[in-house]
Amino acid sequence: DTATLGELAEAKGRYFGSATDNPELPDTQYTQILGSEFSQITPENTMKWQYTEPSRGRFDYTAAEEIVDLAESNGQSVRGHTLVWHNQLPSWVDDVPAGELLGVMRDHITHEVDHFKGRLIHWDVVNEAFEEDGSRRQSVFQQKIGDSYIAEAFKAARAADPDVKLYYNDYNIEGIGPKSDAVYEMVKSFKAQGIPIDGVGMQAHLIAGQVPASLQENIRRFADLGVDVALTELDIRMTLPRTAAKDAQQATDYGAVVEACLVVSRCVGITVWDYTDKYSWVPSVFPGQGAALPWDEDFAKKPAYHAIAAALN
Ligand code: G3I
Repeated sequence: DTATLGELAEAKGRYFGSATDNPELPDTQYTQILGSEFSQITPENTMKWQYTEPSRGRFDYTAAEEIVDLAESNGQSVRGHTLVWHNQLPSWVDDVPAGELLGVMRDHITHEVDHFKGRLIHWDVVNEAFEEDGSRRQSVFQQKIGDSYIAEAFKAARAADPDVKLYYNDYNIEGIGPKSDAVYEMVKSFKAQGIPIDGVGMQAHLIAGQVPASLQENIRRFADLGVDVALTELDIRMTLPRTAAKDAQQATDYGAVVEACLVVSRCVGITVWDYTDKYSWVPSVFPGQGAALPWDEDFAKKPAYHAIAAALN
């Protein structure tokens, strides 16, 4: 009964991971569980553009490397997150003239992918490029480079590292709908054109009682296109305060998500977006909601933890 989530997932040919962030690493109670329970780590913030290229042409991987080093010392794989995103983008990028932005984007990708070459299993190459209705998000990249920027980003990443798996990552694409349909059509057209893409990351920031009924079918239709699928940022929030009934619903939901991944062989792994409610991003963005993770703020395992372990078994 002492197998970790990482070990249970490994026995099914998957990883089970957690995001983590540098300010949490001095918390030794936190790092003890982080280092032992999970087989995969994602840096929650410090591989993002704001941290890695704070001014044009000046690259800084100090904080990201602190996490990669820790993961390696614990024998954990690492997903790179993320190269091209409209958020946590330093303001200098907004001011790059339209004619120079494609080059700036390529340079950023080339430098960062090359820097971490051989140390990561996946890169989230482009993050959150679509709106809920399936149209393109009007990011600075979309506006100044145009529709082709996503394909160009993947090509630059592949050129920098032929081995790391290249992912498109987004939220609210777990179920079938206009947004996941748009991502599906993009992946399909990339495959038809030979644009390098290896996987789709479904973030899976979910709400207790609202796991999309089409999750499993949706994972499968992407897999059938010839790409891997990863659940990259899983958490399942509830309206606070916790009750036994809400915990039970959340546990059911975590179990259902894990099972949906396990039935599709190309669903390669699951990452929770940090593992303890002590460090969840949810309450600061959704006031009144939280308790989204499998460990509570005092590092006690919640019913969700046991449901994940049972589903992995
Ligand atoms: O580091 C600064 C600190 O110096 C400053 O004093 C403090 C004051 O606000 O802010 C700190 O930066 C914060 C940063 O996290 C690092 O902790 C930002 O305010 C805060 O907005 C930022 O939030 C992150 C968020 O992405 C930004 O959009 C969350 O931690 C992170 O969990 C979240 O992760 C995203 C994924 O990357 C993409 N998918 C959605 C997911 C949840 O929003």
